[in-house]
Amino acid sequence: MPQQIFLDVDTGIDDSLAVLYLLASPEARITGIAATAGNVPAAQVAANTLAILDLGGAPPIEVALGAAEPLAIPLRTTEDTHGPQGLGYAELPVSARPLSARTAAELWVEKVRAAPGEVIGLCTGPLTNLALALRLEPALPRLLRRLVVMGGAFNHPGNTTPTNEWNIHVDPEAAKEVFDAFSAAPADRRPLVCALDITETIEMRPAHLEALARAAGSAPIEPVGPGHHPGWRSAASDPVIRYLTDAVRFYFDFHQLYDLGYLAHMHDPFAAAVALDPALAVTRPATVDVELTGTLTRATTVADWAGMWGREPNADIVIGTDPAVFFDRLVTRVGALARRLSQEPA
Ligand code: BDR
Ligand code: CA
Repeated sequence: MPQQIFLDVDTGIDDSLAVLYLLASPEARITGIAATAGNVPAAQVAANTLAILDLGGAPPIEVALGAAEPLAIPLRTTEDTHGPQGLGYAELPVSARPLSARTAAELWVEKVRAAPGEVIGLCTGPLTNLALALRLEPALPRLLRRLVVMGGAFNHPGNTTPTNEWNIHVDPEAAKEVFDAFSAAPADRRPLVCALDITETIEMRPAHLEALARAAGSAPIEPVGPGHHPGWRSAASDPVIRYLTDAVRFYFDFHQLYDLGYLAHMHDPFAAAVALDPALAVTRPATVDVELTGTLTRATTVADWAGMWGREPNADIVIGTDPAVFFDRLVTRVGALARRLSQEPA
């Protein structure tokens, strides 16, 4: 039986790799997608997501537009991280796939209610639409099989402020509502949280792109590096590899600009891999809350590891993984998907 995944994304370069990873995984079936405002506005997220579904040869999947703004504050987007449209240097054809007539929150509720105890929710963007869905259906924590969240920073600096991770920073009120909603969840329903502590160990490098191109049978193998002119575009024979080269190269350039090296942190595809196979991750339970009022620390995620608050754990935080195992899987799966698609008759 395939695993049903409901995806909530703010596509985004690394979100797009998460979508491709899931499409490339035979054990996964994406039941619906919420397009959440974050890296770029919600309408652009939706357009990017539909275009990625085309690129990945996806079957029809309902994609619903999320709220235009976070719950309580204006939207902040980050085109400097993800490119003018959110897909780096890549430009994909506009998809002919329709957008759902439902809101993202309605789609969340509808898909989870339709298969109680079976759906794995995967959030790789701000938690705005999941919070709205929880207002519509407070039983979601019990109805979901599991929730996996990319977000937060615990014993680790932030990537947006000294203590804030981006997804939580965009909508801290929503993040708090989500973690609060899981405070009564049984241990096997606690959200798995992939925070910066772990996702910044998931370093994609040019060699991974080359390995993907080889796995896909794409030619030529294009070594990308810091010397490339921003105007350079991939001429790879394989469309998926062409896309990945142009998208991820922007992410490499961005990380290099911030002195992190010529690499890219693959936060969201790692969370997707953990959603399908939690055995990839070593976890530790904790009680997680979100600071909403600190003048310097608003939107910081705080983990009480030792039970000092006297509250039950509401999250399993990923504290260990082997990044090489993840990258082997990414290369094998997405490479094979690209190869298969390029061999299909047009
Ligand atoms: C998260 O922020 C976004 O920019 C990425 O897509 C990822 O989900 C990492 O902090
Ligand atoms: Ca994201």
